[in-house]
Amino acid sequence: MNHPTQQSVPQLPADYQEILKRIDDELRAFIESKGYPQNLSDAIAYATLGGGKRIRPALAWYTSIACGGTGIDAVQSAIAVELIHAFSLVHDDLPAMDDDDLRRGRPTLHIHTNQAMAILAGDAMLSLAYESLIDNSDPTRATKLIRELANGTRAMIVGQVYDTLGGFAEGISQEECLELIHTNKTGALLCTACRMGAISSNASPEQLEIVTQYAHAIGLQFQIVDDLLDIEGTTHAVGKTLGKDEAAGKLTYPSVIGVEQARAASDQLGIDAQNLLDQLAKNHSRGPELIKSLRLIGTMLTSRNS
Ligand code: IPE
Ligand code: IPE
Ligand code: MG
Ligand code: MG
Ligand code: MG
Repeated sequence: MNHPTQQSVPQLPADYQEILKRIDDELRAFIESKGYPQNLSDAIAYATLGGGKRIRPALAWYTSIACGGTGIDAVQSAIAVELIHAFSLVHDDLPAMDDDDLRRGRPTLHIHTNQAMAILAGDAMLSLAYESLIDNSDPTRATKLIRELANGTRAMIVGQVYDTLGGFAEGISQEECLELIHTNKTGALLCTACRMGAISSNASPEQLEIVTQYAHAIGLQFQIVDDLLDIEGTTHAVGKTLGKDEAAGKLTYPSVIGVEQARAASDQLGIDAQNLLDQLAKNHSRGPELIKSLRLIGTMLTSRNS
């Protein structure tokens, strides 16, 4: 199996770039439509549109398709979840948090502008994400999507508190702490992206349950690979300053169970996710075709180097 250090280039779905462009265009138009002061609008655009893998929007889109939808029906969800993600990165990089000056291969927002603007732009992105879900032709669905996004955002913030400040219940093991950090700070929002994609396409409760299990697997895997890349990646590919987790004494999978075990855990979660996609496919006559793009994304998540 390929690993982040091996510089493999995973195959992506044929329409991946086209979908990302669609998401970027929608995001840009939405930010510009708000009539913010120019400095705030520029800061939000810098943090939101300046690169990034767009994995969460892609997951929303392709999960919609995997559940029998069009992908396009998940576009609002895709925008909302990417806004929350980009906001979380802006605040994660602040001096009071991880104190990072490089993100997506460019200066972080507080270096590009200043700390006050980074705090306020992050606040604005949080509120924008919810605004993006309000204008939905189906108010019942909008309510469900807003609830999903609130769940994911709450978990992300809880995870960031665990990661940065602790606050765990007494007597839990280091492994349990680690799983709590990772599933909350990162896994939850990936899960939200998938569940919002499924809800956007009116998935059945059975489909939503399988999607949730699938998303838990890739969500935890995503942060394990992020931890591995902090040790084994290249700054050029990752676009971040590496080696920061160890320097900051962060609780990570490689630091607690070792690099090899962390890689094995990531590989196993990738296999679990692919098996869950098979289960999802069984529920639909065109199932294998509908899950094709999520399959490719899964391979990318396991072998990514950025
Ligand atoms: C980085 O997320 C932060 C984590 C939650 C692990 P991504 O690796 O998705 O960052 P971008 O969006 O591609 O920059
Ligand atoms: C960040 O985790 C998670 C969130 C932003 C919610 P990290 O601190 O490991 O992410 P990077 O490595 O800075 O992207
Ligand atoms: Mg952090
Ligand atoms: Mg960080
Ligand atoms: Mg990291």
